[in-house]
Amino acid sequence: AKNAAVAVIPAAIMADGICVIDNLPYIEDVRCLYTTLNKIGIECTYEDKHTLKIDSVNDICTKVTFDEVRKMRASYYLLGALLARFKKAEVAMPGGCNFGTRPIDLHLKGFRALGAQVEVNGEIVCVKAEKLKGASIYMDTVSVGATINIMLAATMAEGTTTIENAAKEPHIVDVANFLNMMGAKIKGAGTDVIKIVGVEHLHGAEYTIIPDQIEAGTYMIAAAITKGRVKVQNIIPTHMDSLSAKLIEIGINIEEGDDYITVDATDADFKATSIRTMAYPGLPTDLQPQMAALLSVCEGTSMITENVWEKRYQYIDELKKLGAKITVEGRVAIIEGVKELSGATVEATDLRAGAAMIIAALNARGETVIGEVKYIDRGYEEVENK
Ligand code: UD1
Repeated sequence: AKNAAVAVIPAAIMADGICVIDNLPYIEDVRCLYTTLNKIGIECTYEDKHTLKIDSVNDICTKVTFDEVRKMRASYYLLGALLARFKKAEVAMPGGCNFGTRPIDLHLKGFRALGAQVEVNGEIVCVKAEKLKGASIYMDTVSVGATINIMLAATMAEGTTTIENAAKEPHIVDVANFLNMMGAKIKGAGTDVIKIVGVEHLHGAEYTIIPDQIEAGTYMIAAAITKGRVKVQNIIPTHMDSLSAKLIEIGINIEEGDDYITVDATDADFKATSIRTMAYPGLPTDLQPQMAALLSVCEGTSMITENVWEKRYQYIDELKKLGAKITVEGRVAIIEGVKELSGATVEATDLRAGAAMIIAALNARGETVIGEVKYIDRGYEEVENK
């Protein structure tokens, strides 16, 4: 899972031993982290395409410049990880997908609560502490990034930290499992209260990260829109529950096994439905654009309510070029289903928007040309081959 990988790799810096992380996607965000780690003095090597060995025993520079992390929003996890182990960090502000203000105030509020001094100088965030002390932290908004970042810092703080109103996404559990394997004492990840008893040292560990919920979901929706029958393997089916429920409502058959889901849309008459994006276990905002592509060809009027990102409809104009009928009012998109889409030249306006263009193009009559595929490469490995 991309979003697990971009947190687990920085977390590995916290060990004073060697970590080997397996099942990593070979994507731009991970390669960017690999380069960044090597630049700051960590020996990071690819054992194979999907396995990184991270050796942070030696001296490390705790300063990460804009050049290194420009393209990657999740550089913010380097703050929490470096602060935990070295009690200081200077990291350039996140890049990544642009769909609205993406503040990190909750991350910084959490670091302050743990006793760190925080300074923001233009695009650079500096954090430092004599020592970190456990605290009770209530999250005003449910935030995946802030939950993980505070968990990283608190792992090596003195005493106990409680994070209330924590996010519950599968990759939060994954990061906690990895930290616990390194010797951390974290309980409650995956619920809305996480308890962390700080430890002084973490040791190296070998870890296999979880499969990607959003990648799996993207292929499930692609199978549906082509009226195909596709088995998506090596996944955790329960992570897909919110999506499976919606596909069933649309009229698509879903069959679940231990580690696979078969999507069968061969006889489906697509019916319109409504979706609302929410934090886990709700329907992920990262599947919203792909679902919009599918809803564009469902009979009747569908409605999307986007509850997480204020500007996540930038791709709608591109979808309209392919013949979709959509109007947007604030957080709501209203979709009038058409029989089929038709090919056009479009752009990937961000990572998941790019995935939506591919899904729409698979349905569209004629040829579609998608530009700015660099966004898609940030999160999907060999999407064209798969
Ligand atoms: C992560 C995912 C991203 C996904 C998002 C929501 C990674 C690397 N990225 O992003 O793909 O779309 O979760 O599932 O895991 N907020 C604040 N202050 C903060 C932090 C967040 O107000 O300090 C708000 C945001 O504006 C947003 C909401 O909280 O409205 C959720 O954001 P958050 O869960 O933090 O998203 P990310 O961790 O950035």
